[in-house]
Amino acid sequence: MSTPNGDAGRSDALVLFGATGDLAYKKIFPALYAMVKRGDLAAPVIGVARSMWDLERFQVRVRDSIAQDGGGIDDEHALGRLISLLGYVSIDYSDPATLAALRGALGDATRPAYYLAIPPSVFETVIAGLGGAGLADAARVIVEKPFGRDLASAKELNRFARSVFSEDSIFRIDHYLAKEEIMNLLYFRFANSFLEPIWNRNYVASFQITLAEDFGVEGRGAFYETAGCLRDVIENHLFQVVALLAMEPPTYRDFGALHSEKTDVFKAMKPLAADDLVRGQFVGYQNEPGVAKDSDVETFCALRLHIDSWRWAGVPWYLRSGKRLPKTVTEILVELKPPPQKLFEDSWPPDSPANYLRFRLAPDASIALAARVKRAGEEFLGDQRELLLLDTQPNKESPYERLLSDAMAGNGALFTREDTVEAAWAVVERVLATHHRSQPYKPGTWGPKQADKLIAPNGRWHNLAPADAASKQPTQ
Ligand code: BG6
Repeated sequence: MSTPNGDAGRSDALVLFGATGDLAYKKIFPALYAMVKRGDLAAPVIGVARSMWDLERFQVRVRDSIAQDGGGIDDEHALGRLISLLGYVSIDYSDPATLAALRGALGDATRPAYYLAIPPSVFETVIAGLGGAGLADAARVIVEKPFGRDLASAKELNRFARSVFSEDSIFRIDHYLAKEEIMNLLYFRFANSFLEPIWNRNYVASFQITLAEDFGVEGRGAFYETAGCLRDVIENHLFQVVALLAMEPPTYRDFGALHSEKTDVFKAMKPLAADDLVRGQFVGYQNEPGVAKDSDVETFCALRLHIDSWRWAGVPWYLRSGKRLPKTVTEILVELKPPPQKLFEDSWPPDSPANYLRFRLAPDASIALAARVKRAGEEFLGDQRELLLLDTQPNKESPYERLLSDAMAGNGALFTREDTVEAAWAVVERVLATHHRSQPYKPGTWGPKQADKLIAPNGRWHNLAPADAASKQPTQ
């Protein structure tokens, strides 16, 4: 399966709403710089924001971002080219009439791509303004997450966006889908034959997926108060990972088929109930700027999912994420069932850990398979060793570079589809409204104790050994 090339023509301008914001500074400008360096961007880039900046100030901001967050300026010529492509328009989002000012900035462009890196509260006003000003014809719209904040708002946003743009002109971003390590999950599952016979309820005991961050909300307190961990990373990033691990093979070689299979995974998930979810909040969160003193918003989440399908019935999926945890690491652990008989003293849990497959997604990439081998000697005793199938490999493209380039080419393979987004929201819908209170946890720990109780019926959290511990057991 290859990613199709857009057949609808490349976008001839990129309009970046939220151009003075954090996301643009940290991720988008460095991605644009990389695109110019490899000859993938020659179209005008028009920054749009409320601030009454002039072009020069915007250019300085772009240069600073690349120096600070883009790995430094290593090609002055390419930077010069990017700077020459820039334009800037100040727009009041609450007054759609001001969007008409964009028309002049767009010049001869006939197929602009509008990137909405703005708060979700203004998505609809901007989309309506673009439609009303006649600027949406033949255009594309790229929408940053979060796409809605529950099922009803996601449906409303989809309906609204579809009233102005066609589905194949709407590009909903989940940057996890463009990560090399996550694309490798799809490849690894379906490019190998050894996995399929064991990839089901008969051989897999459980899945654990952890997205741990050792940092806090880093000045994003006001945003985080509207989101919380479940909405920020679980319902989107980690659910996408689950979908790739759980889906059936696509029945034909097209990304449309892949989107449908992923949607089916969400449809087969049992809607979460309050007892499936442990919410935690790190001590000190309430002192962060923009955070309410009595906030109950969760900065940690652990949950148990069930996928009610032929393949996965009865297999628990444990997901966990949090801020201010002991380390920054993302890892999947697939625990296999023990052999049917205990022929050797140490070949069965709890005397020995289960065989497993481990995918480390960040900060480095690895795929390892753990199995027991006999120790030399008279006794039939052994150790579990990891066979490392993939060790870190440098990424050629950042996720944003890939996504912007694909969206401008009209290629929606790595974006989320309307029905997939809604099916994912449906799983968390109930628990967004009815959940237990957040439990406090100390920064630098693995979250509240209740998370350990949640997983206890199926073992313990695998608290992530260092990347170089290739031949060791996971630390428990
Ligand atoms: C973002 C969340 O979508 O993903 C952040 O808003 C989170 O809170 C980030 O830190 C994690 O992404 P990555 O690529 O750093 O794993």
